[in-house]
Amino acid sequence: MKKFLAVIMFALMLTTTARAAEFEMVEYSAQVKLQWLAAAGIPEAQNFLKLIERPVFFTADNLNDFKRLEMANALYQELNMNAAMEFVREKNYQNVFDLACSLSPRAMLLGDEGRKVVVGELQTVCLIGDWCVDEFGKKAKKNVSYDAFWLQDRRGMMASADKFNGEICIIEQGVIIYLTPEVRSQMFYNIRDVLKKHGGCMITSDFTQKKYFTDVAAALYGEENSATIYNETKAMYEKVFEDKILDDDLQNEQEAMEFLKVHGLRAVKYPLFTVMPNLYIFNKLTPAQIEKVNEISMKNYLWVITAL
Ligand SMILES: C[S@@+](CC[C@H](N)C(=O)[O-])C[C@H]1O[C@@H](n2cnc3c(N)ncnc32)[C@H](O)[C@@H]1O
Repeated sequence: MKKFLAVIMFALMLTTTARAAEFEMVEYSAQVKLQWLAAAGIPEAQNFLKLIERPVFFTADNLNDFKRLEMANALYQELNMNAAMEFVREKNYQNVFDLACSLSPRAMLLGDEGRKVVVGELQTVCLIGDWCVDEFGKKAKKNVSYDAFWLQDRRGMMASADKFNGEICIIEQGVIIYLTPEVRSQMFYNIRDVLKKHGGCMITSDFTQKKYFTDVAAALYGEENSATIYNETKAMYEKVFEDKILDDDLQNEQEAMEFLKVHGLRAVKYPLFTVMPNLYIFNKLTPAQIEKVNEISMKNYLWVITAL
Protein backbone atom coordinates (compact mmCIF):
# COMPACT_ATOMS: atom_id res chain seq x y z
CA MET A 1 0.00 0.00 0.00
CA LYS A 2 2.81 2.39 1.01
CA LYS A 3 4.57 1.65 -2.26
CA PHE A 4 1.38 2.33 -4.20
CA LEU A 5 0.89 5.69 -2.43
CA ALA A 6 4.50 6.67 -3.13
CA VAL A 7 4.00 5.96 -6.84
CA ILE A 8 0.83 8.07 -6.87
CA MET A 9 2.59 10.94 -5.06
CA PHE A 10 5.49 10.81 -7.51
CA ALA A 11 3.12 10.84 -10.50
CA LEU A 12 1.26 13.82 -9.02
CA MET A 13 4.52 15.68 -8.48
CA LEU A 14 5.54 15.10 -12.09
CA THR A 15 2.18 16.32 -13.39
CA THR A 16 2.29 19.43 -11.24
CA THR A 17 5.82 20.29 -12.38
CA ALA A 18 4.92 19.81 -16.05
CA ARG A 19 1.81 21.95 -15.66
CA ALA A 20 3.64 24.71 -13.84
CA ALA A 21 6.20 24.91 -16.64
CA GLU A 22 3.49 24.89 -19.29
CA PHE A 23 1.52 27.59 -17.49
CA GLU A 24 4.50 29.89 -17.34
CA MET A 25 5.27 29.44 -21.03
CA VAL A 26 1.65 29.90 -21.86
CA GLU A 27 1.19 33.10 -19.93
CA TYR A 28 4.26 34.58 -21.54
CA SER A 29 3.32 33.59 -25.08
CA ALA A 30 -0.19 34.98 -24.57
CA GLN A 31 1.26 38.19 -23.22
CA VAL A 32 3.79 38.61 -26.03
CA LYS A 33 0.98 38.43 -28.56
CA LEU A 34 -0.87 41.16 -26.69
CA GLN A 35 2.28 43.27 -26.72
CA TRP A 36 2.41 43.13 -30.54
CA LEU A 37 -1.26 43.98 -30.92
CA ALA A 38 -0.78 46.97 -28.62
CA ALA A 39 2.29 48.03 -30.61
CA ALA A 40 0.17 48.00 -33.78
CA GLY A 41 -1.85 50.77 -32.12
CA ILE A 42 -5.05 48.81 -31.39
CA PRO A 43 -6.66 50.71 -28.49
CA GLU A 44 -8.43 47.65 -27.05
CA ALA A 45 -5.12 45.76 -26.92
CA GLN A 46 -3.46 48.73 -25.22
CA ASN A 47 -6.28 48.82 -22.63
CA PHE A 48 -6.00 45.10 -22.11
CA LEU A 49 -2.24 45.33 -21.57
CA LYS A 50 -2.72 48.19 -19.09
CA LEU A 51 -5.33 46.20 -17.19
CA ILE A 52 -3.10 43.20 -16.61
CA GLU A 53 -0.42 45.52 -15.24
CA ARG A 54 2.62 43.57 -16.27
CA PRO A 55 5.84 44.85 -17.76
CA VAL A 56 6.09 44.18 -21.49
CA PHE A 57 8.08 41.08 -22.18
CA PHE A 58 10.47 42.23 -24.93
CA THR A 59 12.16 45.62 -25.29
CA ALA A 60 15.08 47.07 -27.24
CA ASP A 61 17.22 46.26 -24.18
CA ASN A 62 16.66 42.51 -24.24
CA LEU A 63 15.92 41.72 -27.88
CA ASN A 64 18.25 42.30 -30.81
CA ASP A 65 16.68 43.93 -33.84
CA PHE A 66 13.74 44.89 -31.62
CA LYS A 67 12.22 47.60 -33.83
CA ARG A 68 11.97 45.43 -36.94
CA LEU A 69 10.65 42.44 -34.98
CA GLU A 70 8.09 44.61 -33.24
CA MET A 71 6.79 46.07 -36.50
CA ALA A 72 6.70 42.75 -38.38
CA ASN A 73 4.94 40.95 -35.52
CA ALA A 74 2.54 43.81 -34.90
CA LEU A 75 1.52 43.84 -38.55
CA TYR A 76 1.21 40.05 -38.70
CA GLN A 77 -0.93 39.94 -35.55
CA GLU A 78 -3.19 42.80 -36.62
CA LEU A 79 -3.72 41.18 -40.03
CA ASN A 80 -4.52 37.84 -38.37
CA MET A 81 -6.88 39.29 -35.84
CA ASN A 82 -8.79 41.24 -38.49
CA ALA A 83 -8.85 38.49 -41.12
CA ALA A 84 -10.66 36.25 -38.64
CA MET A 85 -13.04 39.00 -37.51
CA GLU A 86 -13.88 40.04 -41.08
CA PHE A 87 -14.60 36.42 -42.03
CA VAL A 88 -16.98 36.05 -39.07
CA ARG A 89 -18.72 39.32 -39.96
CA GLU A 90 -19.01 38.53 -43.68
CA LYS A 91 -20.58 35.14 -43.03
CA ASN A 92 -22.40 36.60 -40.05
CA TYR A 93 -21.54 33.77 -37.71
CA GLN A 94 -23.33 34.23 -34.39
CA ASN A 95 -21.20 31.61 -32.66
CA VAL A 96 -17.44 31.94 -32.41
CA PHE A 97 -15.24 29.33 -30.79
CA ASP A 98 -11.81 30.93 -30.46
CA LEU A 99 -9.31 28.19 -29.66
CA ALA A 100 -6.05 29.12 -27.94
CA CYS A 101 -6.91 32.74 -28.60
CA SER A 102 -4.48 34.03 -25.94
CA LEU A 103 -5.08 37.40 -24.41
CA SER A 104 -6.69 38.98 -27.39
CA PRO A 105 -9.23 41.76 -27.78
CA ARG A 106 -10.80 39.82 -30.68
CA ALA A 107 -13.21 37.96 -28.39
CA MET A 108 -14.34 41.19 -26.75
CA LEU A 109 -14.85 42.98 -30.05
CA LEU A 110 -16.93 40.13 -31.50
CA GLY A 111 -18.82 39.79 -28.21
CA ASP A 112 -19.63 43.50 -28.22
CA GLU A 113 -21.24 42.96 -31.65
CA GLY A 114 -23.69 40.59 -29.96
CA ARG A 115 -22.05 37.32 -31.04
CA LYS A 116 -21.59 34.49 -28.59
CA VAL A 117 -17.89 33.84 -28.14
CA VAL A 118 -16.26 31.05 -26.19
CA VAL A 119 -12.50 31.15 -25.85
CA GLY A 120 -10.87 27.77 -25.22
CA GLU A 121 -7.67 28.34 -23.30
CA LEU A 122 -5.55 27.08 -20.46
CA GLN A 123 -6.55 27.86 -16.91
CA THR A 124 -4.21 30.78 -16.16
CA VAL A 125 -5.03 32.55 -19.40
CA CYS A 126 -8.75 32.03 -18.70
CA LEU A 127 -8.48 33.66 -15.30
CA ILE A 128 -6.89 36.80 -16.74
CA GLY A 129 -9.14 36.79 -19.82
CA ASP A 130 -12.38 36.46 -17.85
CA TRP A 131 -11.42 39.25 -15.55
CA CYS A 132 -10.60 41.56 -18.49
CA VAL A 133 -13.92 40.83 -20.21
CA ASP A 134 -15.66 41.99 -17.03
CA GLU A 135 -13.53 45.09 -16.87
CA PHE A 136 -14.00 46.55 -20.30
CA GLY A 137 -16.49 44.65 -22.38
CA LYS A 138 -19.85 46.31 -23.00
CA LYS A 139 -22.11 43.57 -24.36
CA ALA A 140 -19.04 41.31 -24.22
CA LYS A 141 -19.58 40.79 -20.53
CA LYS A 142 -22.75 38.89 -21.36
CA ASN A 143 -21.56 37.17 -24.55
CA VAL A 144 -17.97 36.12 -23.97
CA SER A 145 -16.67 33.37 -21.74
CA TYR A 146 -13.31 31.74 -21.29
CA ASP A 147 -13.44 27.97 -20.87
CA ALA A 148 -10.45 26.09 -19.55
CA PHE A 149 -9.59 22.91 -21.42
CA TRP A 150 -6.66 21.38 -23.24
CA LEU A 151 -7.02 21.29 -27.01
CA GLN A 152 -6.37 17.56 -26.92
CA ASP A 153 -9.19 17.02 -24.41
CA ARG A 154 -12.12 15.80 -26.49
CA ARG A 155 -14.69 15.96 -23.72
CA GLY A 156 -13.60 19.41 -22.58
CA MET A 157 -13.74 20.84 -26.10
CA MET A 158 -17.10 19.23 -26.86
CA ALA A 159 -18.65 20.37 -23.56
CA SER A 160 -17.63 23.90 -24.43
CA ALA A 161 -18.91 23.62 -28.02
CA ASP A 162 -22.24 22.32 -26.72
CA LYS A 163 -22.90 25.75 -25.19
CA PHE A 164 -23.59 27.05 -28.71
CA ASN A 165 -26.86 26.91 -30.51
CA GLY A 166 -26.38 26.64 -34.29
CA GLU A 167 -23.36 26.61 -36.57
CA ILE A 168 -19.98 27.52 -35.16
CA CYS A 169 -17.02 29.39 -36.60
CA ILE A 170 -13.91 27.97 -34.95
CA ILE A 171 -10.89 30.26 -35.07
CA GLU A 172 -7.46 28.82 -34.46
CA GLN A 173 -4.31 30.71 -35.21
CA GLY A 174 -0.73 30.26 -34.23
CA VAL A 175 -0.96 27.30 -31.89
CA ILE A 176 -0.02 24.23 -33.91
CA ILE A 177 3.68 25.08 -33.91
CA TYR A 178 3.64 24.59 -30.12
CA LEU A 179 1.91 21.20 -30.15
CA THR A 180 3.51 17.77 -30.41
CA PRO A 181 2.30 15.78 -33.46
CA GLU A 182 0.17 13.59 -31.15
CA VAL A 183 -1.54 16.54 -29.45
CA ARG A 184 -2.01 18.31 -32.77
CA SER A 185 -3.58 15.22 -34.27
CA GLN A 186 -5.97 14.80 -31.35
CA MET A 187 -6.93 18.47 -31.57
CA PHE A 188 -7.93 18.06 -35.22
CA TYR A 189 -9.98 14.94 -34.47
CA ASN A 190 -11.75 16.92 -31.75
CA ILE A 191 -12.41 19.79 -34.15
CA ARG A 192 -13.82 17.36 -36.71
CA ASP A 193 -16.20 15.99 -34.06
CA VAL A 194 -17.34 19.49 -33.10
CA LEU A 195 -17.94 20.45 -36.75
CA LYS A 196 -19.77 17.19 -37.47
CA LYS A 197 -22.07 17.72 -34.53
CA HIS A 198 -22.68 21.47 -34.78
CA GLY A 199 -21.87 22.39 -38.40
CA GLY A 200 -19.88 25.43 -39.47
CA CYS A 201 -16.18 25.72 -40.20
CA MET A 202 -12.76 26.35 -38.79
CA ILE A 203 -10.55 29.15 -40.08
CA THR A 204 -6.78 29.27 -39.74
CA SER A 205 -3.64 30.47 -41.44
CA ASP A 206 -1.47 27.94 -39.64
CA PHE A 207 -0.80 25.89 -42.78
CA THR A 208 0.65 28.93 -44.56
CA GLN A 209 2.17 30.79 -41.62
CA LYS A 210 5.79 30.52 -42.72
CA LYS A 211 5.24 31.96 -46.19
CA TYR A 212 2.69 34.46 -44.87
CA PHE A 213 4.93 35.83 -42.10
CA THR A 214 7.88 36.05 -44.50
CA ASP A 215 5.71 38.07 -46.90
CA VAL A 216 4.75 40.41 -44.06
CA ALA A 217 8.41 40.96 -43.17
CA ALA A 218 9.22 41.54 -46.86
CA ALA A 219 6.42 44.11 -47.18
CA LEU A 220 8.06 46.15 -44.43
CA TYR A 221 11.76 45.58 -44.93
CA GLY A 222 12.25 44.04 -48.40
CA GLU A 223 12.72 40.49 -49.63
CA GLU A 224 16.39 40.58 -48.75
CA ASN A 225 15.65 40.94 -45.02
CA SER A 226 12.57 38.78 -44.66
CA ALA A 227 14.29 35.47 -43.89
CA THR A 228 16.40 37.09 -41.16
CA ILE A 229 13.31 38.63 -39.56
CA TYR A 230 11.49 35.30 -39.73
CA ASN A 231 14.41 33.46 -38.11
CA GLU A 232 14.83 36.10 -35.40
CA THR A 233 11.12 35.92 -34.62
CA LYS A 234 11.29 32.15 -34.43
CA ALA A 235 14.27 32.37 -32.04
CA MET A 236 12.32 34.87 -29.92
CA TYR A 237 9.34 32.52 -29.59
CA GLU A 238 11.62 29.58 -28.83
CA LYS A 239 13.07 31.65 -25.99
CA VAL A 240 9.58 32.24 -24.58
CA PHE A 241 8.55 28.63 -25.11
CA GLU A 242 11.88 27.26 -23.85
CA ASP A 243 11.78 24.61 -26.54
CA LYS A 244 11.88 24.19 -30.32
CA ILE A 245 8.77 25.23 -32.20
CA LEU A 246 7.63 23.02 -35.06
CA ASP A 247 7.32 25.66 -37.76
CA ASP A 248 8.28 23.37 -40.66
CA ASP A 249 5.42 20.95 -40.06
CA LEU A 250 2.51 20.97 -42.51
CA GLN A 251 3.73 23.99 -44.47
CA ASN A 252 3.56 22.05 -47.71
CA GLU A 253 0.06 22.40 -49.16
CA GLN A 254 -0.31 18.83 -50.35
CA GLU A 255 0.93 17.44 -47.06
CA ALA A 256 -1.42 19.69 -45.07
CA MET A 257 -4.43 18.77 -47.24
CA GLU A 258 -3.60 15.09 -46.77
CA PHE A 259 -3.28 15.58 -43.01
CA LEU A 260 -6.72 17.21 -42.92
CA LYS A 261 -8.25 14.42 -45.01
CA VAL A 262 -6.88 11.79 -42.64
CA HIS A 263 -8.58 13.73 -39.84
CA GLY A 264 -11.94 13.82 -41.63
CA LEU A 265 -11.59 17.44 -42.76
CA ARG A 266 -11.16 19.39 -45.99
CA ALA A 267 -9.94 22.92 -46.70
CA VAL A 268 -10.71 25.63 -49.21
CA LYS A 269 -8.19 28.47 -49.54
CA TYR A 270 -9.41 32.05 -49.27
CA PRO A 271 -7.77 35.46 -49.52
CA LEU A 272 -7.13 37.03 -46.12
CA PHE A 273 -9.62 39.80 -46.94
CA THR A 274 -12.22 40.48 -49.59
CA VAL A 275 -12.05 44.15 -48.64
CA MET A 276 -8.98 45.30 -46.76
CA PRO A 277 -9.95 47.16 -43.57
CA ASN A 278 -8.11 50.26 -42.43
CA LEU A 279 -5.59 48.86 -39.95
CA TYR A 280 -4.28 50.87 -37.01
CA ILE A 281 -0.72 50.01 -37.98
CA PHE A 282 -1.17 51.84 -41.30
CA ASN A 283 -0.57 55.06 -39.32
CA LYS A 284 3.02 53.89 -38.91
CA LEU A 285 3.65 52.68 -42.48
CA THR A 286 4.71 54.41 -45.70
CA PRO A 287 2.37 54.35 -48.73
CA ALA A 288 4.74 51.86 -50.42
CA GLN A 289 4.55 49.51 -47.42
CA ILE A 290 0.75 49.79 -47.30
CA GLU A 291 0.63 48.92 -51.00
CA LYS A 292 2.61 45.74 -50.30
CA VAL A 293 0.30 44.85 -47.39
CA ASN A 294 -2.66 45.25 -49.74
CA GLU A 295 -1.06 42.71 -52.05
CA ILE A 296 -0.72 40.23 -49.15
CA SER A 297 -4.37 40.73 -48.23
CA MET A 298 -5.34 39.19 -51.59
CA LYS A 299 -3.27 36.04 -51.13
CA ASN A 300 -4.94 32.77 -50.20
CA TYR A 301 -3.51 32.56 -46.72
CA LEU A 302 -6.76 31.78 -44.94
CA TRP A 303 -7.93 28.19 -44.96
CA VAL A 304 -11.58 27.48 -44.36
CA ILE A 305 -11.90 23.96 -43.05
CA THR A 306 -15.06 21.85 -42.87
CA ALA A 307 -15.87 18.28 -41.90
CA LEU A 308 -15.88 15.70 -44.70
C1 LIG B 1 1.04 31.90 -29.31
S1 LIG B 1 -0.51 31.66 -28.61
C2 LIG B 1 -1.56 31.40 -29.98
C3 LIG B 1 -1.66 32.61 -30.76
C4 LIG B 1 -3.04 33.12 -31.00
N1 LIG B 1 -4.06 32.10 -31.14
C5 LIG B 1 -3.01 34.00 -32.22
O1 LIG B 1 -4.07 34.29 -32.77
O2 LIG B 1 -1.95 34.48 -32.60
C6 LIG B 1 -0.52 30.13 -27.98
C7 LIG B 1 -1.73 29.98 -27.06
O3 LIG B 1 -2.11 28.64 -27.08
C8 LIG B 1 -2.46 28.21 -25.79
N2 LIG B 1 -2.14 26.77 -25.71
C9 LIG B 1 -0.95 26.19 -25.92
N3 LIG B 1 -1.02 24.85 -25.80
C10 LIG B 1 -2.33 24.56 -25.52
C11 LIG B 1 -3.06 23.36 -25.28
N4 LIG B 1 -2.48 22.16 -25.33
N5 LIG B 1 -4.37 23.46 -25.00
C12 LIG B 1 -4.98 24.67 -24.94
N6 LIG B 1 -4.33 25.85 -25.18
C13 LIG B 1 -3.04 25.79 -25.45
C14 LIG B 1 -1.62 29.04 -24.86
O4 LIG B 1 -2.25 29.26 -23.64
C15 LIG B 1 -1.39 30.34 -25.63
O5 LIG B 1 -2.24 31.36 -25.19
